[in-house]
Amino acid sequence: MYKAPNTMIMGTGRAVPEKILTNADLENMVDTSSHWITARTGIQERRVVEPGVPLSDLAVKAALAAMEDAGVAAGEIDLIIVGTVTGDMKFPSTACLIQEKIGATRAVAFDLSAACSGFLYGLQVGAGLMLASGYRHALIIGGDVLTSMVDWEDRDTCVLFGDGAGAVVLGPSDGERGLLHTYLRSDGSHSNLLYNAGGGSLNPPTAESVRNKLHFIRMEGREVFRHAVTSMAEALQQVLVAAGLTVADLDLLIPHQANLRIIEAVGKRFEIPEEKVYVNVDRLGNTSAASIPIALDEARRCGRIGDGDLIGMVTFGAGFTWASGILRL
Ligand code: ACO
Repeated sequence: MYKAPNTMIMGTGRAVPEKILTNADLENMVDTSSHWITARTGIQERRVVEPGVPLSDLAVKAALAAMEDAGVAAGEIDLIIVGTVTGDMKFPSTACLIQEKIGATRAVAFDLSAACSGFLYGLQVGAGLMLASGYRHALIIGGDVLTSMVDWEDRDTCVLFGDGAGAVVLGPSDGERGLLHTYLRSDGSHSNLLYNAGGGSLNPPTAESVRNKLHFIRMEGREVFRHAVTSMAEALQQVLVAAGLTVADLDLLIPHQANLRIIEAVGKRFEIPEEKVYVNVDRLGNTSAASIPIALDEARRCGRIGDGDLIGMVTFGAGFTWASGILRL
């Protein structure tokens, strides 16, 4: 089943903070052990921003790298979508702040909230808008500074997350290369398993909301884990069927990097050889919406994948939201 793609990825970029937070550092902050973190998550270290560094700083670096890679100038960008749950401010959108910082004066810019699925949602929305509105070049960014909402006294969550941003420039397909299929899902009935309840209209910020730690990530880890494995497997299966492919056709699978055990469980269900599954969770932790575009850029720039390769992507996050995509690079 072949469907000619409308849009393709012309360039990629990424940015992570310099500062490394190791498992040994966390041993000095909460009641945990490096051994527990590595055994349960596969994470050894993560990158964290210095206080006061906003998402837009990372996102601009990732965006400029992607634009240089694509050979597309700021004035040629028609659309900027930022998948994030940790924008610089409640409003204006971080996409508008990025537009100003890079000088993409013609672009329509907005944020999209789908937690760890923000980048794949952004790709689909961007590709759809390009088709509907005749836009030629779109900057799709996935980025989060999740450490801005981490409770550093909560060992259940603080060991998991890191900061970063990844970006791609979407442009017209050359006929063969491009975004072949995407699959998006949402299920709000599990919104109580992974959330940040403070600071919105439900719980506007007050001294009491801060005292009650409402501004931090809350997660039922075991339940999220279970849903993540099932949903990512379903999404991968659906997109492969839609594209008329099997996992054997993929040159690389890029799964959301939340936990090595989730990645391995999904890989096992499809009997994918380890070397065909990209992993950087050991170095970066869970960077939320940045996870897949950072991995895509790393894999391209180190030569692990190249033009014409068939790439699978699959993710899962708060909402719940989950998504998958197949790309001819
Ligand atoms: N160090 C030491 N012990 C810990 C730690 C820690 N950092 N954290 C929890 N524990 C303890 C627990 O208290 C528990 O102790 P108990 O048995 O005495 O109660 C024990 O370890 C086991 O805890 P579990 O929660 O059962 O551990 P699990 O194997 O499920 O691993 C984890 C926990 C890593 C959080 C896992 O459940 C997970 O990765 N869940 C999914 C997270 C995820 O994918 N999030 C994705 C989306 S993020 C987003 O959308 C923004």
